[in-house]
Amino acid sequence: MNQKAYNQLAQGLPTRSIGKKIIFFDEIGSTSDYAREIILGKKGKVKEGTMVIAAAQTKGRGQFDRSWHSPKEGGVYLSLILTPPADLEKALPAVSLMAGAAVAESLEDISKMDLSLKYPNDIYLEGRKVGGILTERVGGVTDFNALCVILGVGINLYNDPFSFPKELQSTASSILHLSDSKITPMEFVQSFSVHLETWYDHFLRWNFLEIVNCWKKRMAIVPKEAKGKLEGLIALSAVR
Ligand code: BTN
Repeated sequence: MNQKAYNQLAQGLPTRSIGKKIIFFDEIGSTSDYAREIILGKKGKVKEGTMVIAAAQTKGRGQFDRSWHSPKEGGVYLSLILTPPADLEKALPAVSLMAGAAVAESLEDISKMDLSLKYPNDIYLEGRKVGGILTERVGGVTDFNALCVILGVGINLYNDPFSFPKELQSTASSILHLSDSKITPMEFVQSFSVHLETWYDHFLRWNFLEIVNCWKKRMAIVPKEAKGKLEGLIALSAVR
């Protein structure tokens, strides 16, 4: 994995914007922190679809200020910059959901397996968490009519379950360990970019119904809180 290989991957992607520019690091604090620096440095005038990828993170962040275990050879760590029109602000919860849908579809396409989704950010395989999504908005940077959103995705591709911090060892695992599938970060990035762009196009057209249905299909349990939020998105949807 190096910048040159990712440049080639980006060039060959059949997408309009997602993944067409990839910035790669062998090691970084957090890809999402770096994406934020890009956005702030350019005052929001960034190329939509720019992806920051690292082989390892030293300060990977997860939900609720938790850290995200991001060792080298452990998995894929990426942050994608999106700049949807400002009137989609109310629909921003759908961004995490479309990322979850794209992650599940990509992994299932590359290697036959049945992923499940836990509302609103988690990817599960065989009852263990194998991936997570962290969506963050960068406020106050655009003077034009767009929002700046960072979509952070971390997938445990290879980690040995015993390499996780003690408190995660009973809940987290990796795809290789659970399914014997050796998916490379580049394979994942290629497939994820294509799936994500399809979902993003639905989002831009205010079509949240399919995103909600994709989640409903893959959720083992639908918590009360999720039910209300998903219904709220359907109510906002142009397609019902
Ligand atoms: C979760 O808590 O489940 C969300 C984890 C998100 C981790 C990814 S890894 C790439 C990006 N950079 C970060 O610092 N976090 C996200």
